[in-house]
Amino acid sequence: MAAQTYRITLLSGDGIGPEIMTVAVAVLKAVGQQFDLNFEFQEALMGGAAIDAAGEPLPAETLEACRNSDAVLLAAIGGYKWDALPRHLRPETGLLGLRAGLGLFANLRPAKILPQLIDASSLKREVVEGVDIMVVRELTGGVYFGQPKGIFTTETGEKRGVNTMAYTESEIDRIGRVAFEAARKRGSRLCSVDKANVLEVSQLWRDRITQLATEYADVELSHLYVDNAAMQLVRAPKQFDTIVTGNLFGDILSDAAAMLTGSIGMLPSASLGASGPGVFEPVHGSAPDIAGQDKANPLAQVLSAAMLLRYGLNQSAAADQVEQAVLTVLDQGYRTGDIMASGCQAVGTQAMGEALLRALEQPVQ
Ligand code: IPM
Ligand code: MG
Repeated sequence: MAAQTYRITLLSGDGIGPEIMTVAVAVLKAVGQQFDLNFEFQEALMGGAAIDAAGEPLPAETLEACRNSDAVLLAAIGGYKWDALPRHLRPETGLLGLRAGLGLFANLRPAKILPQLIDASSLKREVVEGVDIMVVRELTGGVYFGQPKGIFTTETGEKRGVNTMAYTESEIDRIGRVAFEAARKRGSRLCSVDKANVLEVSQLWRDRITQLATEYADVELSHLYVDNAAMQLVRAPKQFDTIVTGNLFGDILSDAAAMLTGSIGMLPSASLGASGPGVFEPVHGSAPDIAGQDKANPLAQVLSAAMLLRYGLNQSAAADQVEQAVLTVLDQGYRTGDIMASGCQAVGTQAMGEALLRALEQPVQ
């Protein structure tokens, strides 16, 4: 049988992006050989790198290249250098444009504590041991995109900043369905997070999610207000299986959930639309303070490549192999600075990549 060919667009972006991308691409190539998958990689500019080269954070060619690929692997964007630019020229605006441009309304952010890294968590071992949460964040609506938005001048000449948190029924239903389906494949418990005690948009959210639950009788649905959810995440995180929430609440809660696992440097994410290519990226940022120093942890990028294989290309055996390689290098004691522990061997980005390639040669148990 001829090898399956996939076109993958690589958006290395800024800061540590290029270093961790190099590791993930090497891993994909190696696993591709093992599973007879042929990858055609094409690089495109995004974020600060695109601002410097093309004057805008998401050039039209980049969006076009992404649209014409089977999946997009993104590293990280942004940095101090571009922080003072007007909003439409900021790297973050490019990321939002990519999400909107590809219709990526569903963002899956798993936060699973690995036994090897329990002591890297800032919470007590007994609180985090066994944590395995999937945050399903709505990604193309809510206050990030609602109209009107802007800084306006009032009649008295005072400036007024405005954003609008809005969701339509169909927007709530489509993310709700993704979340119920995700919960079904996990522990069959879904917690919907909102602020329905104050916000009308949240009341509608709660009503629709409750309505949808009648179609998913096998999934146990609960609701929490977002302030309580934040508290529960750090108090007793094991009560959560799958969480579904809007764009802003999901942004905040997914960072909190990420940190339960010890390092945000370990966590991947998948952003998916109704059809077309998904974008796979680590939850962490571009870490400009350690860029170019061979210090960055490439594992979230590599695990994002595993999510690309699983959710983007439906190649779950190859995804399992990559995830297993990550566990193997951790078992072997290799650690980058962010997850370093006594008795382990400190390695840089490249050496971690080499250890992964060696681990990939071992068969999946
Ligand atoms: C994230 C980030 C982005 C967001 C920023 C960089 C625009 O924080 O992916 O969580 O707020 O969505
Ligand atoms: Mg965020």
